[in-house]
Amino acid sequence: MSILITGGAGYIGSHTAIKLLEAGYDIVIIDDFSNSHPIVLDRIREITGKDFTFYEFNLCNAQKIEQVFAKESIEAVIHFAGFKAVGESVKQPITYYQNNLIAVLNVLHAMHQFHVNRIIFSSSATVYGYDNPVPFTEEMPISATNPYGYSKVFTEIMLADIAKASPDFCAVSLRYFNPVGAHASGKIGESPVGTPNNLMPYISQVAAGKLDHLAIFGNDYDTIDGTGVRDYIHVVDLARGHLNALNYTLQHTGNIAINLGTGQGYSVLEMVHAFEKANHVTIPYTIQPRRAGDIATGYADPTKAKQLLHWEATHTLEEMCASAWHWQKNNPNGYSENHTN
Ligand code: UFG
Repeated sequence: MSILITGGAGYIGSHTAIKLLEAGYDIVIIDDFSNSHPIVLDRIREITGKDFTFYEFNLCNAQKIEQVFAKESIEAVIHFAGFKAVGESVKQPITYYQNNLIAVLNVLHAMHQFHVNRIIFSSSATVYGYDNPVPFTEEMPISATNPYGYSKVFTEIMLADIAKASPDFCAVSLRYFNPVGAHASGKIGESPVGTPNNLMPYISQVAAGKLDHLAIFGNDYDTIDGTGVRDYIHVVDLARGHLNALNYTLQHTGNIAINLGTGQGYSVLEMVHAFEKANHVTIPYTIQPRRAGDIATGYADPTKAKQLLHWEATHTLEEMCASAWHWQKNNPNGYSENHTN
């Protein structure tokens, strides 16, 4: 029996693939490399010393998914595949809804056909929207402000409906906070295409001299120093959370959403200073106007993950910053410099 990992060549998917292989699971990865690179697969094999089955195609192709389910013996699915840039989703809503929703529907349909009842879905803290107070708990109302966020909300709703209709079904939506950092080997990490949208890869590229300075989006929020506060979580902790969630789905039925965060918020300036201190570098920055759509403060109540998944984040902020820098230094252009075709 194998675990199917969609988007297994991506940032969180690749770290999770490693955890599963290390735990002794057989895995099957489907990825179309739309936001990743074939070399990731070699690195997963290098790090773990284990092999796995890989299929390259986009999940909007329902026939190909069914062929995979017909050929492989799939026990559970971890569904990472999806587009994830908030700003891009506002400009290209059809692309986002098509890629994120048709894909998950196709996967769910194939699961139904082949009697596969367990799924772990990559949701996001973005579903807490603008109006909830921190810390965010899973019982709070969910909403979205952009097509990317709605694709997460809609999928969570679909999973709830399927669980109601199928007593043997188990769905866990993991609501990620802000994943950062990289594998300790420095061989896999976050490799954004073009200029990064997110804070940590941006800081790393400033430290490397690839970008001139960091633009801090607003210093007039009602926070400790006026800059936005988020719950940054080491991607290796996040990956381990999927392993625990997988074990949960093997023992339970129903539908549940669970936060994966540390429960601790840090401001943008705190992140800048932590990165400087951990890595002995300087990060020049300027203060710019607020970025549209940003909230002041977001962090998790991680109680449910602790109670139900027996999981809590263990990596410190220093480890997050050090591993991000280690990855950046070893791979100045992410995966792209190894790209030969
Ligand atoms: N920030 C800057 N400058 C930058 C980039 C970010 O000041 O160049 C600030 C933001 O304003 C925010 C903080 O750094 O205060 C974190 O921003 P990120 O873009 O790294 O992360 P977000 O919290 O905005 O978004 C992330 C994911 C989304 C997800 C969301 C869930 O990118 O996909 O968390 O909360 F939906």
